[in-house]
Amino acid sequence: MESNKSRGNFTGKLGFVLAAAGSAVGLGNIWRFPYLAAKDGGGLFIFCYIILALTFGFALLTTEIAIGRKTAQSPLTAYGVIHPKWKGLGVLASLVPVIILPYYGAIGGWVLKYLVIFLTGKGADAVEDSYFTSFISEQTSPVIFMVIFMVIGAVIVFGGVDGGIERASKFIMPLLLVLIIGIAVYALTISHTDGSGVDRSGLDGLKIYLLPNFEGVTLKQFFVVIMDALGQLFFSISVAMGIMVAYGSYVKKDVNLMQSINQIELFDTVVALLAGLMIVPAVYVFMGTEGMSGGPGLMFISLPKIFHAMGKVGTVIGVLFFVMVSFAAVTSVVSIMEAIVSGLVDKFHLSRKKSAAIVTAYGLIGGTIVCFGYNHLYFELKLPNGTTGQLLDVMDYISNNCLMPLVALLTCILIGWVVKPKTVIDEVTLGGYKFGRRHLYIAMITVIAPVLLFLLLLQSFGILHS
Ligand code: PHE
Repeated sequence: MESNKSRGNFTGKLGFVLAAAGSAVGLGNIWRFPYLAAKDGGGLFIFCYIILALTFGFALLTTEIAIGRKTAQSPLTAYGVIHPKWKGLGVLASLVPVIILPYYGAIGGWVLKYLVIFLTGKGADAVEDSYFTSFISEQTSPVIFMVIFMVIGAVIVFGGVDGGIERASKFIMPLLLVLIIGIAVYALTISHTDGSGVDRSGLDGLKIYLLPNFEGVTLKQFFVVIMDALGQLFFSISVAMGIMVAYGSYVKKDVNLMQSINQIELFDTVVALLAGLMIVPAVYVFMGTEGMSGGPGLMFISLPKIFHAMGKVGTVIGVLFFVMVSFAAVTSVVSIMEAIVSGLVDKFHLSRKKSAAIVTAYGLIGGTIVCFGYNHLYFELKLPNGTTGQLLDVMDYISNNCLMPLVALLTCILIGWVVKPKTVIDEVTLGGYKFGRRHLYIAMITVIAPVLLFLLLLQSFGILHS
């Protein structure tokens, strides 16, 4: 498929692996993984997560990347090439990044705002519990930061596959790794005595993070741990939203896919583990086990408190931390945009520039609406999975909890039962490369993954309670 030239290509394996890792490593690794690990019995969660990554995650990632490279098409058009009756799945998969882009942009803006707070030495302001809520309820400031974030992502996407996405990832991802290792090592060396005279060290926190806690673990709780690990993994490796199909479509035929997939997963898992290593001990030292929360609460409320409690060095750590998170978020938003851009290029034969312009305009308008979800458009809705949310949470629920497991489930059925796993295996072994874990792959894609995904869907719809 020499027509690839006009769509763009990654120059080689390294560029592809770092771009895909750039998509995978995002807010999920930093604000969700450490929280879940602390909540779900430390090492027990980590153990389940790693096993699932090597089996379930590996199968889904392999499938999407192979679909992309085989068809050399965007998610919107690739599924129809695999099987003409399954065009609709491409539309469904492409809908996910369309829903995610606006709110990911809004959150990216919050991250930039906190970077600016620490850069200007105003970290102390962010210590108040109410600071974050009052910031996101403001009318203009969150929109301005969202626009800056979205435009940074857009500039990279405009640059093209190799000139923009690959180049940015090759620069950002190694730096991100260095930053996170540095902060994690520092977090292990701290200790603190709180008001009531209790002394806690980073190493005590490390034990909580890594040692499996089986105390009182019932079968039901074990099930919760597995479902948590599953949901997290799924979001973390950026599958079921067209991204890996799009990135796979830019990979040259002589690249060893299996090796690339292992490296992408390794990168994503190592960053998640390091994020835990950095956050769990730090939260434990300054706030005890009760301080651990997930989501925005962790990043924008708990951590600023901890950076403040660290004293002067906290400002530096705060800056480094938010630089690192901005890196993680930018490479992810780039991949979300690219999943949509590739669809416009392949389906409507628009130029990359025109497509990128349309996606950017959409992202800016959608992002503004999401920001208004905390003021003009404020509402609260009780969701079927038991949580209550505003506009952003509702969009997140629709994409992550409903559409993504559904897209993944349908992909498993298409590959496992309709066109058969051989379709993917042939693509991966092209050029004589080995497909390790071949039997595992077949078992996963035909039976085990669909069952797990079905359970995940039931949980999202509130039919299965955990
Ligand atoms: N995989 C990213 C993470 O772990 C999140 C992400 C979601 C990236 C949607 C792209 C698109 O945070």
